[in-house]
Amino acid sequence: MSKGLQGKVALVTGGTGGIGRAVCERLAKEGAVVYAADLSPGPGWQGIETLRLDVTDEAQVQAAMQQVARTQGRLDVLVNAAGIEVEQTIEHTSLEVWNRVFAVNVTGTFLVSKHALPLLRESAGASVINFGSYDGFIADPGLAAYCASKGAVHALTRAMACDHGPEGIRVNAVCPGYIDTPMLRSFFRDHGDIASLESAVRDVHLTRRYGTPEDVANLVYWLASDEARYASGQLWVLDGGLTAQVQQMKL
Ligand SMILES: NC(=O)c1ccc[n+]([C@@H]2O[C@H](COP(=O)([O-])OP(=O)(O)OC[C@H]3O[C@@H](n4cnc5c(N)ncnc54)[C@H](O)[C@@H]3O)[C@@H](O)[C@H]2O)c1
Repeated sequence: MSKGLQGKVALVTGGTGGIGRAVCERLAKEGAVVYAADLSPGPGWQGIETLRLDVTDEAQVQAAMQQVARTQGRLDVLVNAAGIEVEQTIEHTSLEVWNRVFAVNVTGTFLVSKHALPLLRESAGASVINFGSYDGFIADPGLAAYCASKGAVHALTRAMACDHGPEGIRVNAVCPGYIDTPMLRSFFRDHGDIASLESAVRDVHLTRRYGTPEDVANLVYWLASDEARYASGQLWVLDGGLTAQVQQMKL
């Protein structure tokens, strides 16, 4: 069995959420020492350390990095997966809600990456994986602040890759389509008939299925590993072909 991350140290924000949890488990299975950093407590894993962290709070971010510095002295893999989604058009989005979505999705990615840099520089080959979304390329109706925040993460990913590539730090973004997590379940719940919605969502995918957190963890693992040493500054869309086709009119 592959142990492609043996000896590496990884920190995953949003690490106890749907995708973050699968990522933590995969990175640990591949031999990494893993810190799952999240607002919510973890499931009491063996071999994965949970850190309580609000990614929007700079003092908490600095304290988390100090803890990793004290115990590991470096960071090889940073996964910025903490995120929130609010379903509103701009007309119904208060400034407070807009700022909160940007605080978690964009500022959180900025703050955690900024304070991780000294530790990432200690790695022999560091990889940062941000979480964008297909919603950063095309829009779901009624998701304005979220779409805008993911577009910002995409731009930030390229900027970070440019600035820190020469220091041996690769930066990429994973841009998932529909992934079966609590975030997607809450989206379904807000739109009524879950069974027909699930089937409609399946039908717009070329693969006729939506994704699992493990599908995403497979890509995150590859980007984290040295196999991806030539991959940087890119937005990796993983969406079952969702965005490859024009949606046909039902005639
Ligand atoms: N599920 C999907 O269909 C989908 C699609 C595209 C992109 N994404 C992105 O993938 C990432 C993970 O999403 P998910 O589906 O696992 O969502 P999720 O809701 O299951 O998990 C998100 C996690 O982020 C944590 N979090 C929220 N605010 C935080 C904060 N201030 N500080 C620290 N942690 C915080 C939550 O506690 C939660 O554990 C997000 O960035 C999301 O935008 C998800």
